[in-house]
Amino acid sequence: MKKFMPVEELARDERFNQITQADRMADGRNALIADSEKSRRSNRLTPARPDASEAARALMHGIFVGEIQALEGAGRTCWDFTTGEEAPFELKLDMARQAWDEARHVEISLKLSDWMGSEIGQYAENTVLFQAACSNDPVLRLAGVNRALEGLAIDVFTTMKEFGEIAGDPYLEFCEDWMLADEVTHVKMGSDWLRKITENDPERRKKALEFQGIVDKMFSYGGSRSDSEESSFAIARRFRELAGFTEDENDHIADLGMQALNERKAQLREKQAAAAN
Ligand SMILES: [Fe+2]
Ligand SMILES: [Fe+2]
Repeated sequence: MKKFMPVEELARDERFNQITQADRMADGRNALIADSEKSRRSNRLTPARPDASEAARALMHGIFVGEIQALEGAGRTCWDFTTGEEAPFELKLDMARQAWDEARHVEISLKLSDWMGSEIGQYAENTVLFQAACSNDPVLRLAGVNRALEGLAIDVFTTMKEFGEIAGDPYLEFCEDWMLADEVTHVKMGSDWLRKITENDPERRKKALEFQGIVDKMFSYGGSRSDSEESSFAIARRFRELAGFTEDENDHIADLGMQALNERKAQLREKQAAAAN
């Protein structure tokens, strides 16, 4: 079986709509991206919001695809590294336990999505989680996925749990609460292994913490298009470097992003000129 599988080779059937980082940079106006990211960027999710049902469905779909990628990432970490040399056996055991948890979360999230009235592929699948699980250093994977992304997932699960509670939906409330308990252990696995493996390697620890910070920032910027866009490109590039992308791939994606940014700037200038006339 192949080691270090790239994000493009993830197994998905025709129901899914994947958005890779390259797609995102090439076409930030894609309606699917807008739909799936709207709920993340807008205000806190409460049942009182006029778009509450739609936002909750989009968020649940995001959780569902995140669970699939978390399962794939943890599984790959068991397989990609030599036991005892590149990754301790106990670390792999933890990743196997995590894969088991994530498989359960995939099933729960799928049933909840169904319960909420949405279908697979109704929203775009952002593949950033799996990309963070592609680093060639297991410690970076644990920092980027377990500490950064699953740390953020704790907030998402808490929001969904509260949403279920306020909306009077015990299924949603209890399912989220149970998954939340597992995610806390996944974050702890990340912290424990980071501390243990880099105990006498401050450089490696520094790099892992840098990766964690980059993943946090990447996720917060998401598909937002603002003044900070140019710096978000730099962050995205560093993310790809640390996640194990080759320089050629990185240049290609950066070119696409820059091209899209220039197009948008030209459109903006045209609009401004039209408004001034
Ligand atoms: Fe999970
Ligand atoms: Fe998890």
